[in-house]
Amino acid sequence: MRTTPLGTTGEEVSSICLGPMIFGTEVDRETSFALLDRYYEAGGRFLDTANNYATWIEGYDEPRSEPLLGDWLDERGVREEMFIATKLGFNYGETPQSLAPEVVEQEIAGSLDRLGIDQIDLLYAHVDDFDTPQEETMRAFQRAIDAGKVRHLGASNFLGWRLARANRIAEEQGLTPYQCVQPRFSYYVPNRGAEFGGQVKGTDELLSYATHDELTVLPYSPTLGGCYGREDRGIPEGYVNTENRVKRDIVDNIADEKGLNGNQIALAWLLDRDQPTVPVIGVSTREQLDQNLAALDVEFTADERRRLDSVERMGIFPWRD
Ligand SMILES: NC(=O)c1ccc[n+]([C@@H]2O[C@H](COP(=O)([O-])OP(=O)(O)OC[C@H]3O[C@@H](n4cnc5c(N)ncnc54)[C@H](OP(=O)(O)O)[C@@H]3O)[C@@H](O)[C@H]2O)c1
Repeated sequence: MRTTPLGTTGEEVSSICLGPMIFGTEVDRETSFALLDRYYEAGGRFLDTANNYATWIEGYDEPRSEPLLGDWLDERGVREEMFIATKLGFNYGETPQSLAPEVVEQEIAGSLDRLGIDQIDLLYAHVDDFDTPQEETMRAFQRAIDAGKVRHLGASNFLGWRLARANRIAEEQGLTPYQCVQPRFSYYVPNRGAEFGGQVKGTDELLSYATHDELTVLPYSPTLGGCYGREDRGIPEGYVNTENRVKRDIVDNIADEKGLNGNQIALAWLLDRDQPTVPVIGVSTREQLDQNLAALDVEFTADERRRLDSVERMGIFPWRD
């Protein structure tokens, strides 16, 4: 699988990251292992989990994704080949929503234990914490890096200015900065007033900042539940507007012309962006996984690209293109 630079770390990661958020809960163990095997077989080496996956699903109070990944890494003996990202900051069980140093320390220990590994390749702040001074959080992360428990840092669900501020603090204090950002980001642009719980939407400013300081962008929920290619799923709540209806028609037409699924068009559009962009895909079947991985092979003509970009889009300021 082709690779994409991770910020300014000098490291390359798989250009499509697999998100096993619902593995071990909605997706049973056997299917989860088969999907992980298939991703590995296709050359994928980048997995994205979190300490709280997926404790909000009824009947599952304990984290299931990290332990399942740990078992898979162990059984297949592939730990050294895989690049493992996990996250902390959201509440689950007894753990509060916080990036306070003691929570950071405790949750890193918990993730290492559940994953059965000695070091997290990429640790995300899963959500911002306005109550803890950013310097305290960055220092707590630094201690984990110095102790060899964490290699790189990322931020998810951050506003652009907060991310820029955290990285300015890191630079001034000689601490490790965030190297990538994981927002809710797809081809459809959400309505201005739409809310998605603790999930923070990608914005022009966030993406502009990421470009300027060379942070990799990792869009999550990139297919919005597979809605670009499924008749049973319309434009999702929070996205229903005229622009997205026009976009849906454009995706449908280009998918028809190319003999592809609409989700492949949406993923290929993300992969084709000017700045380093690694979609974090979610799947529950082998067919979905194969379709989504095949987005890596989709190439747009100049006319297709123009059509896709002819409607409202987020991103870098057009006058700087
Ligand atoms: N940082 C954060 O706050 C955050 C938040 C959410 C997710 N994430 C990460 O992003 C990953 C993906 O998120 P997501 O699951 O919300 O992604 P998504 O792309 O919005 O949805 C994935 C679901 O869409 C359907 N789907 C995907 N590809 C399809 C295809 N080719 N054809 C038909 N249906 C398809 C499947 O639904 P069915 O299973 O129902 O068939 C699949 O489970 C997660 O695993 C996690 O790692 C991070």
